[in-house]
Amino acid sequence: MQVLVFDTVKEASQKAYDVFKEALNNGSKVFGLATGSTPETLYDIMVQSDIDFTQSASINLDEYYGLAGDHPQSYNYFMNEHLFNKKPFRANYLPDGKNTDSANEVERYNQIIADNPIDLQLLGIGGNGHIGFNEPGTDFNERTQLVDLAPETIEANKRFFESANDVPSKAYSMGIASILESKTILLLAFGEGKAEAVKGMVEGPVTNDLPASALQNHDNVIVIVDKAAASLLSK
Ligand code: GLP
Repeated sequence: MQVLVFDTVKEASQKAYDVFKEALNNGSKVFGLATGSTPETLYDIMVQSDIDFTQSASINLDEYYGLAGDHPQSYNYFMNEHLFNKKPFRANYLPDGKNTDSANEVERYNQIIADNPIDLQLLGIGGNGHIGFNEPGTDFNERTQLVDLAPETIEANKRFFESANDVPSKAYSMGIASILESKTILLLAFGEGKAEAVKGMVEGPVTNDLPASALQNHDNVIVIVDKAAASLLSK
């Protein structure tokens, strides 16, 4: 795991942009993308740049179960607003939160990932160490799954909804096994609220109590953090 520490979110996001640009220049065609507040600055930089994704496909990590793609809190809506409306791709894939046949949706999304092997997967991290929506206790062998959100995740994400009651309790998420099949993984974490999860991910034991620790099993992971998120690392 390569850990890079920057003074500011801006500088860290600029470095993340450089990783994307280099991957594109080196022939990467499929980009795994993430939502949350963490990648917003990176997406702003992309939008303002000349980066060209028109020959690329994107595959997002997750989507709330029960939300249609045009719901303002859906991850589909978030991606359109922050990136896709301004930076067109050849194709954009997200789980369909409105598909109530979960076996069918899981199969559909696994097939999309199988048909479009991910060259570079972008990740954020939850305060409890989740990646995608793979919560503590998740099975590292899972591919796409319908997951129950942890109470702390509902609490953390309620800021985007009118109240905690409006946050969906389930989501479709790419599983840890699918994430680990990506050729390169780029994880971003900013702010002191992520410091403990970052320490566990980088220095702790590999345990499904902290799903991001699974990344220690991958040989091409770049972690880009600001000083606050790095503050508990021993070196
Ligand atoms: C969300 C998403 C994750 C994201 C994480 C952190 O619940 N499912 O993909 O990385 O939580 O979010 P934020 O970047 O807003 O802190």
